[in-house]
Amino acid sequence: MQFAHKDLLDLESLSAEEILLYLDTAERFRQVSEREVKKVPTLRGFTVCNLFFENSTRTRISFELAEKRLSADIVNFSASTSSVAKGETLRDTAENLLAMKIDMMVMRHGASGAPHFLAKRIPASVINAGDGTHEHPTQGLLDLLTMRQHLDELAGKRIVIIGDILHSRVARSNIHGLTKLGAEVVLCGPPTLIPRDVEDMGVAVEYNLKKAIEGADAVNILRVQKERQEGGLLPSLRAYAREWQVNAGHLDMMAPSGIVMHPGPMNRGVEIAQDVADGARAVILEQVTNGVAVRMAVLYLLSEARRRVERGDRAEEGSDGLGEPSTSLDGDKSSVTSESGNQPAAKAATGIRAQGA
Ligand code: CP
Repeated sequence: MQFAHKDLLDLESLSAEEILLYLDTAERFRQVSEREVKKVPTLRGFTVCNLFFENSTRTRISFELAEKRLSADIVNFSASTSSVAKGETLRDTAENLLAMKIDMMVMRHGASGAPHFLAKRIPASVINAGDGTHEHPTQGLLDLLTMRQHLDELAGKRIVIIGDILHSRVARSNIHGLTKLGAEVVLCGPPTLIPRDVEDMGVAVEYNLKKAIEGADAVNILRVQKERQEGGLLPSLRAYAREWQVNAGHLDMMAPSGIVMHPGPMNRGVEIAQDVADGARAVILEQVTNGVAVRMAVLYLLSEARRRVERGDRAEEGSDGLGEPSTSLDGDKSSVTSESGNQPAAKAATGIRAQGA
């Protein structure tokens, strides 16, 4: 399998094999965070800028931890304290950062498509850390990883996504990832917050919460996004909680080993009852732990693709060598094997392509 992406912008344009490569690589990176010294030299020499135009706790901190654990040099950018507040455009901001030799940009933005806009215009790798209501691919990957750890194969498993699907980038990335891996995906929520024709994405819609949860292997409960509501779509929070809150009674209807997920931040007492959030089926903090491993895997695989291109470019220019051999996850000089594709990653690609191209 060829893994040759410059960017990670969405799960929609990835193949099932590429998604599995990310998950398998993340599985291997999980051990790094269990060690006494949680650091490998894999990204030594790479500079990563975390470009956050929207608030974040989990995504921003886990990207930063992943970068530090891979020994990257890190720059943190927050829109509210930058020249964006003086009116500087996204493109000018990015070009100024690039002039300081940034290799990768992790970007969260309130506008859907902002990371795609940037990825087409700059040579640095762009990782989408959540764009508007479009996608949140690393959240999708960490959700898939957590489900796979508990449910093994995802093919044929009943996964129910509950809540504000309309505004949820997490739902969209989950839908693309889960359907590619063969899961049965059921969406449930207020009719005003379920997009029209969403069945075209290969999912089922069930408006009755109890019926939706019956037999579920996993329920992924979405945050009510108060900040993204246009007038009239969301009933009052009290009415929402009365109709759509997942409570302990619902969990009895799940498959015996079914799990409860939430991407965070949670509105306890609105979309999720306290005892569900803290209950035995909840794997919400495992999702957070997996987030670091997934982000290490994404940074690693994209950096490897960049290294291969740089070596190829130098060879074309007539230099003697192909540069440094590919680094392993630990940063040593042996090649890395893709568990999904079962090919040495060092030989897996000769070029780099824009995602979705
Ligand atoms: N799940 C998630 O994206 O959380 P943050 O907004 O805190 O990053």
